Amino acid sequence: MEAIPPPPPRILIVDDDESVRDVISVLLREEGYHCSVASGADQALTLAEQEETPLVISDMKMPGKDGLWLLEAFREKHPDTAVIMLTGYGDTEAAVDCLRRGAVDYLLKPPKLTDLIRSIERALAKRRVELARKRYQKKLERKVRDRTTELRNALKDVSTTYQNTLMALVTALDAREHETSDHSQRVVEYTVAIAQRMGIRGPELEEIGRGALLHDIGKIGVPDAVLLKPGKLTPEEWVEMRKHPDIGYAMIAPIPFLAIPAQIVLSHQERFDGRGYPRGLARNEIHIGARIFSVADTLDAMTSDRPYRKGTTFANAIEEIHRCSGSQFDPEVVKAFLEIGEAGLMKIKEDMIARKKAKLAAGGGGGSSGGSTPATGAPAVGLATPIPVSTKIEP
Ligand SMILES: [Fe+2]
Repeated sequence: MEAIPPPPPRILIVDDDESVRDVISVLLREEGYHCSVASGADQALTLAEQEETPLVISDMKMPGKDGLWLLEAFREKHPDTAVIMLTGYGDTEAAVDCLRRGAVDYLLKPPKLTDLIRSIERALAKRRVELARKRYQKKLERKVRDRTTELRNALKDVSTTYQNTLMALVTALDAREHETSDHSQRVVEYTVAIAQRMGIRGPELEEIGRGALLHDIGKIGVPDAVLLKPGKLTPEEWVEMRKHPDIGYAMIAPIPFLAIPAQIVLSHQERFDGRGYPRGLARNEIHIGARIFSVADTLDAMTSDRPYRKGTTFANAIEEIHRCSGSQFDPEVVKAFLEIGEAGLMKIKEDMIARKKAKLAAGGGGGSSGGSTPATGAPAVGLATPIPVSTKIEP
């Protein structure tokens, strides 16, 4: 199948000398080219605005705006137009300068027809290649952009699914303890707020938040008789209860993207002074996420209502945490915590409640928020999870 040849390209001839314009245009028309003529740079640019101009043949020396000026103007406004310069004898240096500035060729005046045709064909061929290259590059860029968007969306989906899975797990766990997942979410929010106040950002902040969310995941391995026991735990039962950080760590540590949260899970019951469990780690031996978490968890435990007692005020909880700075808690963490202040901490809780209400009003009460069970109205029997700060390390 024979391809239809493209129409001959239009060539714009620019020269202040009318006879030169005429001779060149007549010769080129005889060769089958379409030709336009201009007597100066401004007219040439006006013509180029009006119709596509693949090629310009311009005189170098023209009164007013010369060929070099026109060349630069075309480079700027019509970068796909090829420009051939016509120069007189003795202008070689200027002609070489033109090549450096983007002209495809230069010819001495008066040009021989064969030289002119060869130069035109070379210029047009070069332009075709250049245009094809640009088209290809644009196509590639578009492809890369499309693929990047697809990949980003896919990652977002994975991340959302993964977050939802973790939330479902935590919700199930909280439900088992007759708790709502609000507790876990509040602890995450307090933890993240303190971490941010300490200057922690980006992936590290996310991992700390995830560690806080999953902190009690190991309670899955604690028997109901112990976890849900209404009264005080016996020493043997405490042994069982104290296994939960190790169980949680064993559960999630093999999952590569939960490696850091696993560290937090393992050490969330440690104390700054080394009197915590399961390892009795102290100070910097405890992951910073766990050191932050323990402050956040204590705040939430003290300020939340339980079936058998009302939560205390934020002011009291803050005072108690301040008192335990350096013993149970890392002083640096407590410092950041105190900087957030009573109003700031209460606002975190109020904002969460407002968000939950808005979600329920919008009919989206399911999922991770623990359904419609209000935080303080859960049909809870006695919790084995000890509430006051000191009982955390009982017996
Ligand atoms: Fe725990």
